[in-house]
Amino acid sequence: MTTTLAQFGSSEYAVRNTCKVALLGFGTVGSSVARLLGARSGEHGLRLTHVYNRDVARKRVDWTPPDVTWTADIDEVLSSDVDVVVELLGGLRPAHDWVRCALRSRKSVVTANKQLIAHFGSQLLHQAQTEQQFLGFGACVAGGVPVLSGLQDGLAGDRLIQVRGILNGTCNYILTKIEKAGASFSEALAEAQQAGFAESDPTDDIDGLDAGAKLAILARVGLNAELRPQHVRCHSIRQVAAIDFGYAAELGCTIRQISTVKRIQRQIYAEVGPALVAKNSPLACLSGSQNIVVSSGEFGGDTVFSGHGAGGNPTAVAVVSDLLQAARHRANSVERHDPAASSCEVMGDPEVQQYVRFVVRDRPGILASLAAAFSRHDINVDAVLQKPGYSKSKLPFVMTLESCRKSRLTAALAEIGRFDFLEEIPLSLPILKEGPCDAFAL
Ligand SMILES: NC(=O)c1ccc[n+]([C@@H]2O[C@H](COP(=O)([O-])OP(=O)(O)OC[C@H]3O[C@@H](n4cnc5c(N)ncnc54)[C@H](OP(=O)(O)O)[C@@H]3O)[C@@H](O)[C@H]2O)c1
Repeated sequence: MTTTLAQFGSSEYAVRNTCKVALLGFGTVGSSVARLLGARSGEHGLRLTHVYNRDVARKRVDWTPPDVTWTADIDEVLSSDVDVVVELLGGLRPAHDWVRCALRSRKSVVTANKQLIAHFGSQLLHQAQTEQQFLGFGACVAGGVPVLSGLQDGLAGDRLIQVRGILNGTCNYILTKIEKAGASFSEALAEAQQAGFAESDPTDDIDGLDAGAKLAILARVGLNAELRPQHVRCHSIRQVAAIDFGYAAELGCTIRQISTVKRIQRQIYAEVGPALVAKNSPLACLSGSQNIVVSSGEFGGDTVFSGHGAGGNPTAVAVVSDLLQAARHRANSVERHDPAASSCEVMGDPEVQQYVRFVVRDRPGILASLAAAFSRHDINVDAVLQKPGYSKSKLPFVMTLESCRKSRLTAALAEIGRFDFLEEIPLSLPILKEGPCDAFAL
């Protein structure tokens, strides 16, 4: 197993000519990029010449070079002689139009916008190639962790079959809070919001959409597969409770929001959601808001990338690393070949071992009813776990199930959902296996 740690200030590359850089968006990442360019001025041949933002006057700072043009007029940037436009606005509109326009004006583009690349990556890469410009998006996944370049360049010699990771720091913060402090989901979320680790509207993070967009990019770069974000199955972490960590521990596991994309022959399976992972796996060891990605190659086995997945400075490092590549591209006219991602059939029904937590009003015969319902759908119960000390009127217990197709589990849980002894909708979580991926097991 190889470990790549994200570090502030990576390797140096001499760039022959000065490369003029424009920033679109002077928020958290934009201002950190400007600081980093300033701190390393003279070292890398990158020169900040333009900062664009709406109402730009309130953004102006006195620590950028005096000759920087601050503007709220996008045409002033797009019609200038800048070499690279750095898109740090976020969102699809107007970012998409302006990136296309920049490429059309023969400027390279660097972006940290995962939604933009997840939705329009193929189109933009094609346009960049046509215009012979560089399009860098290393900051879109795992912030400062060089996972995209690691997969694309460092592991280019292997054939990757799976990429799995923890891609959303907000979810990791919340889940580790529930685990360590026994907090409820809403308490942990409120704390994450107070500490600045969760947005006031955290939906995209906790319901898996943010990680889903990153997974679509990982599928393209790591597995060479064209995967639309809407084809990633996303499950929320909202239902995970402290009791689930207690039961997971009895199974030698913990719970994390896990993103997995996997190639199975000509099909692709992609899912984001809470899952049980073995306590001794690298995924379980990650706490707080860090990110980790584990790639599995047919020849080279597993490779782990981990580090700070978000925040101004780590993300700025990834942006500046892309800028250096853009400058090299410009100085040497190095052709970058982004292999065209191939379209693939999306697979929706893998076989997975499952953890199912019930909360019931206790009475005789409940276990027999549940086992019979699972058996009617050809699902074998593996074990039953029940901790003492809970009220019989709201009794939590867990059944683990042998590997079964998701469609069968869904049908069984639909039938079970009609039982009148249920106090809560059952929570089902996959139990993920570690190690090289075998045919259909996750
Ligand atoms: N923050 C992170 O840790 C992180 C990590 C990885 C990737 N990213 C990505 O990096 C990008 C920037 O993130 P951020 O955290 O820096 O966001 P941010 O702090 O909200 O900064 C965005 C900046 O762009 C400006 N802006 C947005 N839309 C605009 C428009 N239509 N016209 C003019 N100016 C506009 C905003 O101006 P106002 O101040 O007027 O809103 C703000 O100054 C996003 O795509 C994000 O997903 C961020």
